[in-house]
Amino acid sequence: MKFFIDTANIDQIREANDLGILDGVTTNPSLMAKEGIVGEEAVLNHYKAICEIVDGDVSAEVISTDFEGMIAEGEKLAALHHNIVVKIPMIKDGIKAISYFTGKGIRTNCTLVFSAGQAILAAKAGATYLSPFIGRIDDMNWDGIELIKSIAEIYAVQGYETEILAASIRNPLHIVKSAEFGADVVTCPLSAILGLLKHPLTDIGLAQFLADHKKANG
Ligand code: G3P
Repeated sequence: MKFFIDTANIDQIREANDLGILDGVTTNPSLMAKEGIVGEEAVLNHYKAICEIVDGDVSAEVISTDFEGMIAEGEKLAALHHNIVVKIPMIKDGIKAISYFTGKGIRTNCTLVFSAGQAILAAKAGATYLSPFIGRIDDMNWDGIELIKSIAEIYAVQGYETEILAASIRNPLHIVKSAEFGADVVTCPLSAILGLLKHPLTDIGLAQFLADHKKANG
């Protein structure tokens, strides 16, 4: 399973990349705005900066919601760097745009996915990645991980090549369960990645080893 970081924060991207386990980055307009990246030029430059740090796929999201707008934006984004993946919302014109980009050999990430039906449509259109938002489903008192499981089963039965990119990850258990139920990729905040490290017995055991070493060696 690939690990992406879900942020536009350069320091956090560097920190995750320095762990040596990072395979890519996802962003969205909310994450860009959170970092104060405004205006087309600033946004394009920010994507270029991210591509210079991480040697892996970087999802850059369109903000248009009509076919022509998504094509124009997506082509500009894709031309920035060979690692850019054009992120497109799961709407009717979005599916048209994904089909268009598939035909042109431009890779896509279909975002804002909340059902297995949407996942089938995106795979038929040839999306490279599919982003089901598991945390937002949990927020609605449904089960986001169940959706990952269902999509993984459907894609396996049908032989779809679209990669399942579990998004809206909120905690380390989301990562573990996504791995268990067949996600190809998880995109996570840095806190969830670092949360995988934590176990009190690791800390207690390490303290004991170091104390015993000190006692024996002075
Ligand atoms: O990038 C899309 C997704 O990961 C957003 O997550 O936490 O805003 O639901 P969240």
